[in-house]
Amino acid sequence: MDSGLENVVAAETVLSDVDGLNGRLTIRGYPVELLAASMAYEDTAHLLWQGFFEELPDVAALGARLGSARAEVFALVKSIPAGLDTVRFLRTGWSLLEDDESLECVLRLAAAGPVFTAAAVRLEQGLPPIAPDPSLSQSADFLRMMTGKVPTQAEARALDAYLVTVSDHGLNASTFTARVVASTRAGLTSAAVAGLSALKGPLHGGAPGPVLDMIDEIGTPQNAEAWIDEALGRGDRLMGFGHRVYRVRDPRADALKAAVARLPGTSGRVAFAEHIEKAVLGCLAKKYPSRKLETNVEFYTALLLEALGIPRAAFTAVFACGRVLGWTAHAQEQVSTGRIVRPRSVYKGPVPVMA
Ligand code: SDX
Repeated sequence: MDSGLENVVAAETVLSDVDGLNGRLTIRGYPVELLAASMAYEDTAHLLWQGFFEELPDVAALGARLGSARAEVFALVKSIPAGLDTVRFLRTGWSLLEDDESLECVLRLAAAGPVFTAAAVRLEQGLPPIAPDPSLSQSADFLRMMTGKVPTQAEARALDAYLVTVSDHGLNASTFTARVVASTRAGLTSAAVAGLSALKGPLHGGAPGPVLDMIDEIGTPQNAEAWIDEALGRGDRLMGFGHRVYRVRDPRADALKAAVARLPGTSGRVAFAEHIEKAVLGCLAKKYPSRKLETNVEFYTALLLEALGIPRAAFTAVFACGRVLGWTAHAQEQVSTGRIVRPRSVYKGPVPVMA
């Protein structure tokens, strides 16, 4: 039995490759650093969905279809109970959508991510949800619906860089979950809702919010070592560090760090975070000399989303708005194999007493 399926190859995929030894992430043949620096959300949606939907339009038309889908799904916001945290608000909203394997279904899922997440944030703040502006890009409209103001080009570009960077990452827990659900032909909405449920966990996509909590609790550079040693002494896991696959630095960490640095007024926060990161890596190396625990995607994710004015309680839902591209592409890839996912188990229970 391979706990955590660590050494099990469960699928062949054309979507992404996570090279844990060399710290490289390739998405559809492109290094993630290139995608993060040059691609918008719409480009990456087109890149990942290619080959899985016959009637996939070109990037420009796809952007327009996403805009009109955002406008359509906004009508569903009033059917979602207020008072839910962002992940449950998004999950409940997604559950209202059609559930099949069509391009229309996946467009509405991708469009509904920002609409429902932004609405949840506004309702949490006691403010009315803001209707989409289909003429804007997905990232620009996402920030506009969440903050009430049209973002600068640099802000929209920074959110694009984030959503693109986290769009796909091999068979991580939430993507594998989405593939399992898709393999029963349950539909893309079911696969996305299942993926979101897996992503919610603090060991997976729930990590970026607690990264900021850690940075805030440490407070000053002088406190870093003592705070970290105490946390490790309690057996706490430090959010934003370690990875099942990467044995060196997660390449997405620097891609996102570069995106934060391109935003004005972030240098002080980044310098403080760098100091904490260095202290954490030193303490982890001391405590686990034989286990390479490096910075993962979530550490600089936290700084980027914070710099964009996104509340930390919404970080996981924003992660899902990027990863839904990977979940749905993998779901379609799994469907194309025609195989239901059904591994075996070793029975360790009581042996039946023969009559
Ligand atoms: C994501 O898989 C993916 O691709 C995921 C992801 C994606 O794009 O989909 O990259 C996104 O989930 C990134 C990870 C976000 N999570 C966190 O930052 C939470 C903190 N990290 C850990 O909980 C942990 O590193 C995991 C869950 C990410 C990986 O866990 P593993 O591979 O199962 O490692 P492990 O639990 O076997 O740890 C080995 C040892 C353990 O010590 P012992 O129990 O053997 O004494 O290292 C310790 C762990 O306690 N350890 C940590 C640690 N990570 C591992 N100790 C302190 N802080 C940490 N962050």
